[in-house]
Amino acid sequence: MKWTRKHLLGLEDLSAEEINIVLDTAESFREVSTRKKKKVPTLTGKVVVMMFVEPSTRTLTSFSLAARRLSADVVGFSRGGSSITKGETLIDTAKNIQAMGIDVIVLRHPAPGAPHLLARNLDASIVNAGDGTHEHPTQGLLDIFTMRDRLKRIEGLTVAIVGDIKYSRVARSNIWGLKKLGARVIVVGPATLIPSHIEDLGVEVCYDLDQVIPECDVINILRIQLERQKSGLFPSIREYARVFGLNTERLSRAKHELLIMHPGPMNRGIEITPEVADGRHSVVLDQVTNGVAVRMAVLYLVAGAKG
Ligand code: CP
Repeated sequence: MKWTRKHLLGLEDLSAEEINIVLDTAESFREVSTRKKKKVPTLTGKVVVMMFVEPSTRTLTSFSLAARRLSADVVGFSRGGSSITKGETLIDTAKNIQAMGIDVIVLRHPAPGAPHLLARNLDASIVNAGDGTHEHPTQGLLDIFTMRDRLKRIEGLTVAIVGDIKYSRVARSNIWGLKKLGARVIVVGPATLIPSHIEDLGVEVCYDLDQVIPECDVINILRIQLERQKSGLFPSIREYARVFGLNTERLSRAKHELLIMHPGPMNRGIEITPEVADGRHSVVLDQVTNGVAVRMAVLYLVAGAKG
């Protein structure tokens, strides 16, 4: 099978074969980051715009490095310094940027569906770098890449995704990707943070973290979005940490080869203790390293696709 997609909007749209093409392409690119001269000429002459309308540390840095390692020209864009603050619409802003001759727009936006809107209205390739609570496809891909790299398979793995499932784009992209590749996915968290009918996506639901830990090959801990506490979705931070926080005591019943992941940014001492975040099961920084190779693969594939 050949890659034909001009955009990467989400993992819901991708087939298992397409996900594997991204993972295999990322595998071939990861070596570039270990070279003294960390660059290949693959995207020479292409222009990639980082359109981040929401804050980011990891994704923005990772996409920028990925594009530079492929020799693309990279243009930065942030909401604060742009005419979006003067009321310009997203489509008008993007069309103006496109008129300067760009090939790929990497978009992070608080509105679910914003990348899809640009994909319908522009000629450039659009890559979703996180759209509201909807999807964060490259985070899902780099999480799956890290699991495959460490455990040598995805099919048959038991993966628990723990925390704020309801508002997490990372959870949604992981669920779509993992289910397509044959993993068993269990979502764990307070009932108020688990969407009704989530089972329709093929996942199991559990409200007791201690019950699932011994079965897991991977535990992906989500950031608890502290701003949600005001909305009464969980009683207190201390209560959340007590019931759903991953700590050393809980891990005493885990498999020896368990992987612990977190997309970042971490709330140390809330969803994960510092000992676990920095402990022997943690692959949090591997995820970040692998993210560059995965994003190189995505930029290479969409920039080369005819659509
Ligand atoms: N994982 C992630 O999306 O992190 P940033 O918000 O820092 O990009």
